[in-house]
Amino acid sequence: MPIITNINDLKTLAKRRVPTMFYDYAESGSWSEQTFRDNTSDFAEIRLRQKVAVDMSGRSTAAQMVGQDVAMPVALAPVGLTGMQSAEGEIKAAKAAEAFGVPFTLSTMSICSIEDVAAAVSKPFWFQLYVMKDRDFINDLIDRAKAAKCSALVLTLDLQILGQRHKDVKNGLGAPPKLTLKNILNMATKPRWVLGMLGTKKHEFRNIVGHVKNVDNMGTLADWTAKQFDERLSWDDVKWIKGRWGGPLIIKGILDVEDAKLAVKTGADAIIVSNHGGRQLDGAMSAIRMLPDIIDAVGDQIEVHFDSGIRCGQDVLKALALGAKGVYIGRAYIYGLGAMGEAGVTRALDIIHKELDTTMALVGRQKVNELSRENLLIPHDFRGCFEKP
Ligand code: FNR
Repeated sequence: MPIITNINDLKTLAKRRVPTMFYDYAESGSWSEQTFRDNTSDFAEIRLRQKVAVDMSGRSTAAQMVGQDVAMPVALAPVGLTGMQSAEGEIKAAKAAEAFGVPFTLSTMSICSIEDVAAAVSKPFWFQLYVMKDRDFINDLIDRAKAAKCSALVLTLDLQILGQRHKDVKNGLGAPPKLTLKNILNMATKPRWVLGMLGTKKHEFRNIVGHVKNVDNMGTLADWTAKQFDERLSWDDVKWIKGRWGGPLIIKGILDVEDAKLAVKTGADAIIVSNHGGRQLDGAMSAIRMLPDIIDAVGDQIEVHFDSGIRCGQDVLKALALGAKGVYIGRAYIYGLGAMGEAGVTRALDIIHKELDTTMALVGRQKVNELSRENLLIPHDFRGCFEKP
């Protein structure tokens, strides 16, 4: 067993233990993957301002996200097919998050259902909604999230159509995944993963299968999902979803100042500045470059959250210091899950917490909400090097 000291170590182990088609599914961006790469490399452009001889005792990362207490303002992002990285992956991640005291967000496109996760945890988790054309299904899904006592709804707006990821097409990743000879031979080299999968019946999109008329197996599911993402989704839809839900609403997938202002008008509780981890519009700006402008435009009117590109606690600190009130990690915990199941997600959270805490000390802050742009050294052209026409 290798010694794990950082998120990259978990990634290396996940690559070894998870079948290639599912590892690739997580480790890819759309088309040329430019935005996917920029998401991480742009964090490195921001430097930290060292402060010495400052009292760094009594530090705390405790904070709140949409009014809820969190041990650190780092939530687990919604990730589709999490239960294919490790058997019952959503349950494992939700349990790790609950024990750590951070929110877990369950994806609409998860393997374990809302009810499966609710039965396994005792504190509320968050639910992420994709808007489908079948409005009866959406209404029902919102009601199911309410019945499961989910404490926030994360409404994703940046996936009305799927950004093509070349590796998924080449690997035959779909619903159902294509069991080609190559894929089967590859799975045979991942005994841990296979054993886990043999030990559970949870192998399909359980939020959907059995809940939609005429969708009762993987074949009919493939036909249904291919047609269901709603290309007509509009800001008006956000209003009826907000009304039906009635609880804390977080709008995910904002990357533009004007869109951020429109999101404020919906009365949502928070927005997530995000480009879906570089999986949708390739060529879009990295999320971290867009964050300062969006904070400056709406940060005093709505809680601004952030994701896309976080791979360590220093990245968390940079996003918080720029003004985000909370962040989400996607791949950083998915690597942990693929590497070591629930213990791997806990390890990922521990690593990020320790990096955040130590960095906070070295920039001379005791509390996460004391972080500000004063703690950063930002290149002059960080947000201004591209002109809008
Ligand atoms: C995602 N993301 C995502 N978002 C969402 O709203 N619903 C979903 O089902 C998914 N599925 C999904 C699958 C995989 C494999 C990844 C990597 C991502 C996007 C996710 O919530 C988040 O925005 C990004 O993961 C953030 O980027 P990092 O942290 O992965 O760089």
